[in-house]
Amino acid sequence: MEKLNIGIILGSTREGRVSPQVGAWVKELGDKRGDANYTIIDIADYNLPLLGEPGKDASGAVAWAEAIGKQDGFVFIVQEYNHSITGALKNALDYVRDEWNNKSAGIVSYGSVGGARAAEHLRGILGELLVADVRVHPALSLFTDFENGTTFKPKDVQVDSVNQMLDQVIPWATALKTIR
Ligand SMILES: Cc1cc2nc3c(=O)[nH]c(=O)nc-3n(C[C@H](O)[C@H](O)[C@H](O)COP(=O)(O)O)c2cc1C
Repeated sequence: MEKLNIGIILGSTREGRVSPQVGAWVKELGDKRGDANYTIIDIADYNLPLLGEPGKDASGAVAWAEAIGKQDGFVFIVQEYNHSITGALKNALDYVRDEWNNKSAGIVSYGSVGGARAAEHLRGILGELLVADVRVHPALSLFTDFENGTTFKPKDVQVDSVNQMLDQVIPWATALKTIR
């Protein structure tokens, strides 16, 4: 059987963001498992102006749709901005529809309280996009899993949490592939 494709989506795009460190860590843990092709998908690499914004070049939309369409499941790297997800992630989610449908996802979030409020907002959006988000949710603290809020140094227990999350994402991604 062909390996599943799991896209690790970096939800933040600002200069100085920490999401690439978190995404690279999840990819390393995924690659160690060897149960899927884990790929970092960085919203900042795509030209995605605000959806429908007049006079803006939205040529990145085609590549974005292709990148999402290729995946069987996702891990969202979610950072809390004003108790929700970033505008960049919401905009990128809005850009495509069918490409998200009938796939599974896990959420890895961070913030002062583990990014929990942002993660719960994302779950509501994923429901509308027919993305099956799993229960296990690694929640990273800006105080204890980062040094000075900037250098990512996750506590050991977070490794188990990511693996338990992927233990749920992979079977659901496998099952949902059969109905697409
Ligand atoms: C606009 C903005 C709003 C934020 N709001 C919250 C918040 O509501 N709760 C929280 O825990 N952290 C909040 N933070 C802190 C971010 O979670 C923290 O800076 C994190 O590193 C941002 O992710 P990034 O570095 O990948 O951009 C906010 C940061 C920004 C830039």
